[in-house]
Amino acid sequence: MITLNTLLKWSALCLGSISLHAMAASVDPQAVQRGEYLARAGDCMACHTAKGGEPYAGGLGLETPIGAVYATNITPDPVHGIGEYTLEDFDKAVRHGIRRDGSSLYPAMPFPSYAKVSDQDIADLYAYFMNAVKPAATPNRDADIPWPLSMRWPLAIWRWTFAPAVASTVPASSDPQLARGQYLVEGLGHCGSCHTPRGIGMQEKALSADAQGQFLSGGAPLEGWVAKNLRGDTHDGLGAWSEAEIAQFLKTGRTDRTAVFGSMTDVVQHSMQYLTDEDRLAIARYLKSLPASGPAPAASGASDTAKQMASLNVQAVGARTYADNCMACHRSDGKGYAQVFPALAGNSVVNGKDATSLIHIVLAGGYLPGNQHAPTAFAMPGFAWRLSDQEVADVVTFIRTGWGNTGTPVSAADVQAQRSTGH
Ligand code: HEC
Ligand code: HEC
Ligand code: HEC
Repeated sequence: MITLNTLLKWSALCLGSISLHAMAASVDPQAVQRGEYLARAGDCMACHTAKGGEPYAGGLGLETPIGAVYATNITPDPVHGIGEYTLEDFDKAVRHGIRRDGSSLYPAMPFPSYAKVSDQDIADLYAYFMNAVKPAATPNRDADIPWPLSMRWPLAIWRWTFAPAVASTVPASSDPQLARGQYLVEGLGHCGSCHTPRGIGMQEKALSADAQGQFLSGGAPLEGWVAKNLRGDTHDGLGAWSEAEIAQFLKTGRTDRTAVFGSMTDVVQHSMQYLTDEDRLAIARYLKSLPASGPAPAASGASDTAKQMASLNVQAVGARTYADNCMACHRSDGKGYAQVFPALAGNSVVNGKDATSLIHIVLAGGYLPGNQHAPTAFAMPGFAWRLSDQEVADVVTFIRTGWGNTGTPVSAADVQAQRSTGH
């Protein structure tokens, strides 16, 4: 028998579903879908999701010179997340660096780059976060920054000094592919937040292509990894890479010559692998348009390394350590195995100005994960437990100067410094 009570419940349920339906109807599913793609391109996940946590529920700590800042919950939860945010509130945070309460955000949130995102893309991102992300009632964490540094008003001054004006549209261009690449690299991709050197106020020295060639010319080490030069320099930049190679690297994390490692692995896994081939090629095209940042260094003249190693004439500093620990995978000619073990000869990472990443990968090892486009994973063991500081210094010096490579030597003190960071 149907009681009044059940009838009431049913009608309430029907009413509920009608109003939800009406709401859903006002949401443009294409905007939501575009927004999801843009959230990938902007890699919002990288910072706003804690290890093992709910997607976008925040909690990941980001190191700054004054203490850790925690990315916030950006799910549509009304209490802990951004459920109550209007499009304007969302825009203020993402492009202008201003919280809903009017205070300023730490630039650990890359709003100086997101300032380049168009009005349309901001609206689509908003549609996605509000309608397709699952609300999570995860409370936010306060930054581990002691008072008085924790006061937010100086951040407003930072913003006035360093944050660029917000552009509402994508600039018109006679070369749409190049313009698209520029838009993605400088804007949502925020590549410069790692790959551009920073100034005295921790601001990126350039937020777009500049006459001094600072944009994407290589950042300082962050958590033990160096986001290196991506400009046209042939020895340590992308001068020797083709557009197709760059696009393939962003898609699969590997090329015939190199493999992604360190913090760039997450960029490929969470963001770049999900872009379209056209967008990855546009990014590659734009990177290839950036001229070299300096003159090429003289070759080290040690190009007979391959012959010496093959005959096990291991006189050079570090050569013995290389033969015993590395040669099985990276080979005597330093060419590795295409798409499996990266080449070290002629490798733009190995030739990089700052050797921190190389010391780091030799100590800690590396893991090249598979993804939807390249399913096989490969790993390199860590050598921290079996090689001394001097041996690591020697073997890194060896790979930086062997086979005609042009890197500078590293010292045992450099290795000791890296070891003591615990990364
Ligand atoms: C490199 C790390 C990083 C990335 C990438 C990032 N964020 Fe953030 N975001 C942060 C941090 C850290 C904060 C908190 C800063 C603070 O407390 O001052 C923040 C704050 C925010 C806020 C403000 C929330 C509030 O409390 O008002 C919003 C909204 C936001 N991010 C959205 C996004 C979106 C959308 C994307 C992708 C397009 C994104 N973020 C990508 C680090 C990041
Ligand atoms: C979180 C920091 C971070 C961000 C953001 C980042 N990168 Fe990187 N990137 C790195 C690090 C660290 C390396 C060095 C490790 C490697 O080569 O895999 C690197 C290496 C690269 C390389 C290989 C260079 C070489 O010579 O081997 C390319 C290409 C690249 N990044 C492109 C990009 C692009 C394009 C973006 C923006 C869409 C981007 N990166 C954003 C950290 C970052
Ligand atoms: C078991 C095979 C193996 C051995 C042994 C090995 N490596 Fe690797 N190496 C790899 C793999 C796989 C990667 C890619 C790791 C990644 O993407 O995170 C790599 C990456 C590297 C890189 C980064 C280059 C790039 O473009 O990605 C350097 C530098 C390097 N190895 C140096 C060494 C040195 C020096 C030794 C010896 C002390 C060594 N490796 C021993 C397999 C190996």
